[in-house]
Amino acid sequence: MSKYIIAGGNKIHGTLNIKGAKNSILPLMAASLLNESINIIHNVPLIADVYTMIDILRSIGCKVELDDHDLIIDSSILTSNEINEVYVKKMRSSIIVLGAMISRLEHVKIYEPGGCAIGKRPIDLHLKSLRRLGVKIDEGEIIDCERKDIIGKDIILETPSVGATENIILASVKAKGKTRIYNAAKEPEIEDLQNYLNKMGARVIGAGTDFIEIEGVKKLDKVEHTVIPDRIAIGTYMVASALTGGTLEVDRIIRSHIDPINNLLIKSGCDINYTQEGLILKAPQNIKSLNFVKTDIHPNFPTDMQAQLMSLMTLADGETVFYETIFENRFMHCSELNKMRAKTEVINPHVCRVEGVKKLYGSETKCPDLRGGAALILAALVGEGESIISDIHHVERGYEDIEKILKNLGADIKKA
Ligand code: EPZ
Repeated sequence: MSKYIIAGGNKIHGTLNIKGAKNSILPLMAASLLNESINIIHNVPLIADVYTMIDILRSIGCKVELDDHDLIIDSSILTSNEINEVYVKKMRSSIIVLGAMISRLEHVKIYEPGGCAIGKRPIDLHLKSLRRLGVKIDEGEIIDCERKDIIGKDIILETPSVGATENIILASVKAKGKTRIYNAAKEPEIEDLQNYLNKMGARVIGAGTDFIEIEGVKKLDKVEHTVIPDRIAIGTYMVASALTGGTLEVDRIIRSHIDPINNLLIKSGCDINYTQEGLILKAPQNIKSLNFVKTDIHPNFPTDMQAQLMSLMTLADGETVFYETIFENRFMHCSELNKMRAKTEVINPHVCRVEGVKKLYGSETKCPDLRGGAALILAALVGEGESIISDIHHVERGYEDIEKILKNLGADIKKA
């Protein structure tokens, strides 16, 4: 398994161009099944999850070409109605293909995705919603779905699940009648999905709010679209500069997407100014403790930035309590950070207390998951001495060229 070797102490400094959002491109690629036509998507991040989704689309008959950061998907012909176990085990978010496939085909089979490191991640809301839309579902190791027509319905989500919201939208775009989602997830990636679908000729309104209405249409056309910037990747590199005393210019952001992250970075002492299309972050002299950080649904502070912000708080001038409300096992980076002489204490699966220390020290650590791994890289960038971080395949699922980008920004990092 590959490792990163990082010598800490260099400022992370310079200009950053981040490609499209991982959590947007995946549902967009699933949505490309709906128009039975050509889908051209620009600003695609070259990350492991995109390659897995390309394999999935090819495995069911799509023609897919990737040319630099441009993706061309021809979904005219499907040759299979089954999502192979190997893909689902590799990437649990492949469940997002289900909604689009059952919209297109009367019989679909997909392997039960199971949980992942950060939590059980059930799909009960996905399946309950699809059943409400008229899909007969037999659950087991293989989830076997059959339907006659998909009939638009009112659906109330007990939890504003991002994936369930996306699957309902994808399944309803060509349904008979209207589907209304109450307590829908409000993440920016859902707005991006709505924009993509409406460019095809769909009729979706309300994304970004907790009420989304989808009026079924008969036909969808080819589409061309540019993926929104990845707010989580941008936030991750901003923390790298904040930790190492650097100045970072990000060339393109969408302000409302990144504000929930910027608000806390400003409170921690960062100086953030907005440019025409982007922003400039200047690191604080001293990192101020945030006292209390709660993760929550958008537009609150995102769970996908919790680990990265914790790395910043390990060097703050006081204590910070993290309250992780979305997942039940998203503190696995804490014990790894403590190997670098951070002082984190996991109180329970949802609460972690961090006491700021003066310095972190390089150590051998192991990526527990995607964002926890990113947090370890951030800590290693500022830690004194050399760090060796293993299991970096987790990080490469969601960050394109992170080693090259950090090197260009001044980091002493190499892959072994
Ligand atoms: C999406 O996952 C993101 N992934 C996650 O990003 C992100 O952390 C999460 O949304 C929350 O914002 C992608 O978009 C590919 P959820 P998703 O359904 O859709 C519970 C990253 O680091 N739930 O909103 O799987 C679930 O257990 C990844 O980039 C049910 O109980 O998240 C969790 O506690 C990690 N039943 C909560 O809802 C269901 O049927 C939120 O999950 C579905 C979800």
